[in-house]
Amino acid sequence: MIFVLTGAGISRESGLETFRDKDGLWSKVRIEDVATPAAFKKNPKLVHEFYNKRRRELTDGHIKPNKAHKALARLEAALDLTQPEDSVRQGPGLFLVTQNVDNLHELGGSKRVCHTHGSLTSAKCEACGASFEWLRDLGLDDVCPRCQAPGRLRPDVVWFHEVPYHLGLIEEELYSCDLFVSIGTSGVVYPAASYINVAKRRGVPTVEINLEPTVSSSYFDKGFYGPATEAVPAWVESILPLIGT
Ligand code: OAD
Repeated sequence: MIFVLTGAGISRESGLETFRDKDGLWSKVRIEDVATPAAFKKNPKLVHEFYNKRRRELTDGHIKPNKAHKALARLEAALDLTQPEDSVRQGPGLFLVTQNVDNLHELGGSKRVCHTHGSLTSAKCEACGASFEWLRDLGLDDVCPRCQAPGRLRPDVVWFHEVPYHLGLIEEELYSCDLFVSIGTSGVVYPAASYINVAKRRGVPTVEINLEPTVSSSYFDKGFYGPATEAVPAWVESILPLIGT
């Protein structure tokens, strides 16, 4: 099973900003103003504005999945075909976990995407804990469609000082994968930044795909460096023959 971790770099050529590159989001706004529970408590309006703007980028139809997202969807479909019906091993051949809160993997055709940092197109109620699809602006006047609490909805994204989603599932997949691939992430935000260490300790092959080498590059067995829209399809094409498609 191939474990793929993606980060903001895979969506850069679709027109979305990364966080830590020059001119990235964190050079324009402070994490502590928009991406922590304390920030939301202090200034919910500002936090809503920050995420509303980013949600609108996804819903106004201009931002489209790129060749890298589509190549991963192709890989998923190819691996699905290779799973014999009577396979002893249950489960799919690709596990795709993304730190991205955009929906470009899904729009690119991926069927199963694990959003460990949540999703911009989802809202969460702080009163009842329910999450639901949310495609328009979110504000202090909105009422929870589930419990009817007013003013308790927040973006369904994981902020700093919060626990990322699906950690149990991710660990399970990390400990059973045969290949670990990291795409378009600077590898500095934990726990995702530590996945490479687990893969290394287990001795499975590791691949990094990024615009340029990262602080973790020396841990990877192989690196493909260049824009994601070129490097990811090239890597996928290189492994498709190996999986018998
Ligand atoms: P970063 O902004 O930290 O890193 C983006 C990476 O993408 C860098 O290593 C770039 O070199 C690479 N990159 C940029 N353009 C690229 C391109 N065209 N093709 C390939 N690679 C490219 O973003 P993440 O690592 O995703 O969390 O950040 C991780 C988390 O930190 C985010 O999920 C977010 C952020 O704070 C939260 O908000 C909780």
